[in-house]
Amino acid sequence: MSVSPEQRERVMAQAQGAVALEIAFIGVANGLLSQLDRMAHATADQLAAAAGADAGYVTRWCDAAYAFGYLSESEGQFQLTDLGRAFRPDVPGTLMPFAVQSVLSAHMAERAATFMKTGERPGEKVLAERESILPWFGPMLEMSFGALFEQQILPQIRAFAEIDARQGVAVDLGCGNGWYLLRLATRFPHIRGIGLDGFVENILQAQERAAAAGLGARLHFQVGDIYNYTVPERVDLIAMTRALHHVWDQKDKVFVTLRDSLRPAGMAVIWEPCWPRQRADLVQPGRRMLAFQNLTEHVQGNHFLHPDDIADAFRQVGMVPSVHLFANGNEAVVVGRNPG
Ligand SMILES: C[S@@+](CC[C@H](N)C(=O)[O-])C[C@H]1O[C@@H](n2cnc3c(N)ncnc32)[C@H](O)[C@@H]1O
Repeated sequence: MSVSPEQRERVMAQAQGAVALEIAFIGVANGLLSQLDRMAHATADQLAAAAGADAGYVTRWCDAAYAFGYLSESEGQFQLTDLGRAFRPDVPGTLMPFAVQSVLSAHMAERAATFMKTGERPGEKVLAERESILPWFGPMLEMSFGALFEQQILPQIRAFAEIDARQGVAVDLGCGNGWYLLRLATRFPHIRGIGLDGFVENILQAQERAAAAGLGARLHFQVGDIYNYTVPERVDLIAMTRALHHVWDQKDKVFVTLRDSLRPAGMAVIWEPCWPRQRADLVQPGRRMLAFQNLTEHVQGNHFLHPDDIADAFRQVGMVPSVHLFANGNEAVVVGRNPG
């Protein structure tokens, strides 16, 4: 067999796509894109000074960003192109998550390749191994899923309005940077929230965001372990967003905790990517990334779930489940209600 020119061309385009995202990530992680936009135009040295970065690195980055269409240049002065601006983390619909995901994927692929022989599964700590990626993990998830939550899930899942009417308490287990509770509390002015996460970095970001949004009195964020979490008194709602699959190895214990931490008629709102029953469904472009992510979840000791598995787990502890699908069936929200 020989490699066809079409195969070579296709893979070269893929390779350039990956590198383009890596260059964008370096700019995002060092604040270069936002800084240059604020300055309108700058030499590499001026940009480096303003961003507090090394001039040698910034010069090389500017060349690469110019080569890949993120920067234009005139007489030594660089400017952001529209494409470069689209990766600014603060622009609506930012492309930043693709850049972060690309570098995180490379890291996780290396881990999977390394551990495949021995079967070692080091757990959550692999996510924290790259100091430049960790701070972007929360914002990446927020920018990927915040709009879906606000525009479709919040209006459609009745539990949230019910909790608001009761001036209830919502707990977010595995809250990441707190974006879920921040949006919930902004939309529903009577809800109070408690967020818990295992990574200090996430909790610091969440606390800062809550204070900046004037929600510090209603939202409390703390470092902790879902496995050992107990509520001071029973709460109205417990949310877990992309967190249940992290603790599925002890699902019996986790679901008993959910039931016993909720008031009568209280609800657990579990949001997970929807792992398909049929392998052939993974080929769909919207699901492909899920297949790769499940390999990286394996490194962390996890695997993705089908919504029926979550619904069954609710039934086993006497809770009543309902399954809601979003994003063409790629995202599942499973609500489990305690008997009233
Ligand atoms: C995929 S992230 C989702 C974060 C957030 N819910 C979101 O949607 O952006 C999973 C989160 O669960 C947290 N997590 C996983 N296992 C945990 C545990 N045993 N205790 C506390 N947090 C945990 C991780 O730190 C991580 O922030």
